[in-house]
Amino acid sequence: MELSDTYIASFIQPRNELLLEMEKFAEEHHVPIMQLIGIDALNQLLRIQNPTKILEIGTAIGYSAIRMALALPNSHIVTIERDAERVQHARNFISRSEVAERIKVIEGDALEIDINSLSSTYDAVFIDAAKGQYQKFFEKYSPLVPSGGVLYIDNMYMHGLSDLDMKEVPRRKRTMIRNLHNFTNWIMQHPDYTSAFFPIGDGLLICLKR
Ligand SMILES: C[S@@+](CC[C@H](N)C(=O)[O-])C[C@H]1O[C@@H](n2cnc3c(N)ncnc32)[C@H](O)[C@@H]1O
Repeated sequence: MELSDTYIASFIQPRNELLLEMEKFAEEHHVPIMQLIGIDALNQLLRIQNPTKILEIGTAIGYSAIRMALALPNSHIVTIERDAERVQHARNFISRSEVAERIKVIEGDALEIDINSLSSTYDAVFIDAAKGQYQKFFEKYSPLVPSGGVLYIDNMYMHGLSDLDMKEVPRRKRTMIRNLHNFTNWIMQHPDYTSAFFPIGDGLLICLKR
């Protein structure tokens, strides 16, 4: 963590008991959930955008879905997760939250689900799933975003791996990092989007649809 991140982290507001329990659960069971300063920043951007319908790719145990729903009282969230055990935990945690009626968890691989089954457009799409697949997620789900909508993509730094020389990247992660680089170059030049990096948490990319 950078010194500035530590400084920012000192201002993080207290969370309710359920969220603290989820943070502890994630840590104990090695479930990757969004960093606290990352989710705070994402939520603030979402408040400014004020979407009513949000699609999340990568639910894990439902932490970010609950945090987004709490930050945006008028929002409805659909969130997709392929790991059956995590889906179960997410549904359980969400059912205990005060925003349960506004979050729907879909179990399945986001690259395989029929998007017609989502039957909606989404003002905001949050992509936080398999890192090597970002372009595929983007290409599949961006048609559901209307002009003026936003796609938010987390982990663009890949915990510091994305700006390393490829020789320094562990072999088993090279394809993932190559895919991430290709995706970044592709989206930055995409004529239908204005995109910018936000150096928050593990790096957030924000793509505004023209
Ligand atoms: C970083 S975690 C999500 C964390 C969550 N957004 C949060 O901050 O609370 C990524 C999740 O994406 C899921 N995932 C990865 N690839 C997926 C895919 N193709 N379809 C659905 N879920 C996927 C993983 O199983 C994992 O639980």
